[in-house]
Amino acid sequence: MRLTLGSPSALKQKAPLVVLMVSDGKASFPAGDLHQQASKLLKSKTFKGKAAETLVLHATSAAGPRALLLIGMGKAKEITSDLVRRAGLIAGAEGAKLGAKKVVLGAVGAWSLDAASLSALGEGLVLSSYRYTVKKPDTKAPSEAVIISGMKGAAAVLKTAKAVSEGTNLARELGDLPGNIADPDHLRSTARKVCTAGKLRFKSYDNAALKRMKMGGILAVNQGSDKPAYLIEMEYAPARYKHTICIVGKGLTFDAGGISLKPASGMEEMKYDMCGGAATIGLMKAIAATKPKGVRVIGIVGTTENLQNGSAYKPGDVVTTGSGKTIEVINTDAEGRVVLADAIHLATKFKPEAIIDMATLTGAIVVALGHEAAGLFSKDDKLVERLQKASKNTDEKLWHMPSYPAYDEKVKSKWADIRNSAGREAGSCTAAAFLYNFSGGIPHAHLDVAGAAWEMASRNNFPGGASGFGVRLLHNALCNW
Ligand code: BES
Ligand code: MN
Ligand code: ZN
Repeated sequence: MRLTLGSPSALKQKAPLVVLMVSDGKASFPAGDLHQQASKLLKSKTFKGKAAETLVLHATSAAGPRALLLIGMGKAKEITSDLVRRAGLIAGAEGAKLGAKKVVLGAVGAWSLDAASLSALGEGLVLSSYRYTVKKPDTKAPSEAVIISGMKGAAAVLKTAKAVSEGTNLARELGDLPGNIADPDHLRSTARKVCTAGKLRFKSYDNAALKRMKMGGILAVNQGSDKPAYLIEMEYAPARYKHTICIVGKGLTFDAGGISLKPASGMEEMKYDMCGGAATIGLMKAIAATKPKGVRVIGIVGTTENLQNGSAYKPGDVVTTGSGKTIEVINTDAEGRVVLADAIHLATKFKPEAIIDMATLTGAIVVALGHEAAGLFSKDDKLVERLQKASKNTDEKLWHMPSYPAYDEKVKSKWADIRNSAGREAGSCTAAAFLYNFSGGIPHAHLDVAGAAWEMASRNNFPGGASGFGVRLLHNALCNW
């Protein structure tokens, strides 16, 4: 979807759909039949303008817009960027429903778009254009959205909003695709395409390379699968940079649990177990498009399936990771951390200033936070603060979870350096404690996105499925580094 800028007169002109955002239940409507009808409906309180309330009017005369969509924004003083993003989602969906190729949007109350709300509106619009394509989509997204704004720097704001949302949509697509389509080869080829198109360095390590590198963690998990495993590396490096940051994503394209098999009910949802990896690829796409200054970004994805066959790794096995540290396998379903052990170790080789991993790591974080927020784990206060700031800027919510030394004790093993499960208690916290062992003392944040990365039900006009969580958040964090 193209995002362009227009002047207020565009609201009166002929267009398939004009969208008016109405705040405080008051608006000054442009001239024209439809607008006058809308004005009456607002005066009579048929449409009150409550937050996210909508009303569609269709034209009977030939002049002016063919259809008018009013979106209530509630009280001007209380408008959040979340609500504005939602207005973009509503507008895009309504445009698609009407088969409109073009949508023109403007705020007609006392409230007007500032940089943050313009960004959110653009994001919502582009997010609304995502389609899952395995099944033929019911509607086609509008190809252009014209936003009425005379704000200085508006074009640049929209350019970033579009790039970040397209990266998010790529992450959503990878997440929603089933495990037989979005398999490790698919993740690798998608990452390669992103790198070729965006002029990023691409490298992937296949099973033979992983063996040479002694990456015994990812290889152990991969033993139960007939498909290959990869560590994927994507690098954005501007000519001059001050900071190197590594982003690491868990890319389990399907997680059956392995020998510690998961229950059948709901197992199909484990196609989403690559959402951390998908967000890493989507983020690199956004980074390639926006080219932030002064920061070098390396995206690393560890990808394999976790299945079971006669060669599958087993409880009790002790595996040696690329770092040289050994892991006792207690539960083969705690596979994400075993893969990440090697992916994070690879990240340390770049001597980055920070490592941030995104992983659908534990069911426990879904129990704790639901789909509202990702768990944020880190022992580095500065890094926590950075990420919390980015979270405020982007509405991708983080909840800071504890990293007490007691959790480090719980993942110690009698038979190896560390064990991959310490049982149900504090399951998300001990998972984070496990990961810290592989970041070699480099400031490390772990985002457990098991809930935030996807949700079956639709919510606040966002359809059910993968959310692409993390792309917007980390793009913002990296741009402000
Ligand atoms: N991929 C799962 C975590 C998960 C569960 C993500 C539900 C999304 C929804 C992960 O690999 C896993 O199975 N974790 C286990 C760890 C346990 C065996 C220590 C879990 O959370 O039960
Ligand atoms: Mn698992
Ligand atoms: Zn998993």
